[in-house]
Amino acid sequence: MTKITIAIDGYSSTGKSTIAKQLAKHLGYVYVDTGAMYRAVTYYAMQNGLINDSDFNKEALIFQLPKIEITFEFNSKLGFAEVYLNGVNVEKDIRTLEVSSFVSKVSTVSEVRQKLVEQQQKFGKNKGVVMDGRDIGTVVFPDAELKLFMTASAETRAKRRFDELIERGDKVIYQDVLKNVEERDYIDSNRDDSPLVKAYDAIEIDNSNMTLKDQFNKILKLVKMTLEDCE
Ligand code: DC
Repeated sequence: MTKITIAIDGYSSTGKSTIAKQLAKHLGYVYVDTGAMYRAVTYYAMQNGLINDSDFNKEALIFQLPKIEITFEFNSKLGFAEVYLNGVNVEKDIRTLEVSSFVSKVSTVSEVRQKLVEQQQKFGKNKGVVMDGRDIGTVVFPDAELKLFMTASAETRAKRRFDELIERGDKVIYQDVLKNVEERDYIDSNRDDSPLVKAYDAIEIDNSNMTLKDQFNKILKLVKMTLEDCE
């Protein structure tokens, strides 16, 4: 059967990973969360004293890049692959608001992007992959058969992220989450290297007022149409 590449880009907390996981499960495709890779590098930088509120030692991070190994391991209980940093499962550690507050800065570093994009292209070389991030349809897989660009209002997205963090037991304030979402959007969209932009051939999905079920059905229809076109 024909397999395609599905590239999902968009702003923070637009539900990219939710739809990507649903699609991968339904289609029997591999799901790659590229945000988790940037978060894992950020977590490494935090752990090694390379970044804090007032300082970012970019040069040291670039120097240490060869020492950073990011891998994914499928967790059958969860139904998706968890991220490992140098052999240690960091899936939970990378989802904190603290990591979120540094990750966009780390993601501006071209050397970091180069390393991660190369690895992402390897993951997807046999197609049958759903990958989400900020530059998948523009840089990682510009030839992806289906490109989606997810949007929703900043308030809707902050509320979703806030609920997720509270459910995990993190003590966060809604205003801080909203501020982080807006700051990340700004940095992600305005950096020099691979800024977040909608690829000219991406289909925009605004899910502010869509249920998960409606969104899944709408996108599955697009996948089926794309598969038919490819056959
Ligand atoms: O998808 P996420 O919120 O977990 O991503 C975290 C950050 O990583 C995001 O704010 C920007 C960066 N990122 C990126 O620059 N390029 C990607 N392909 C994925 C994420």
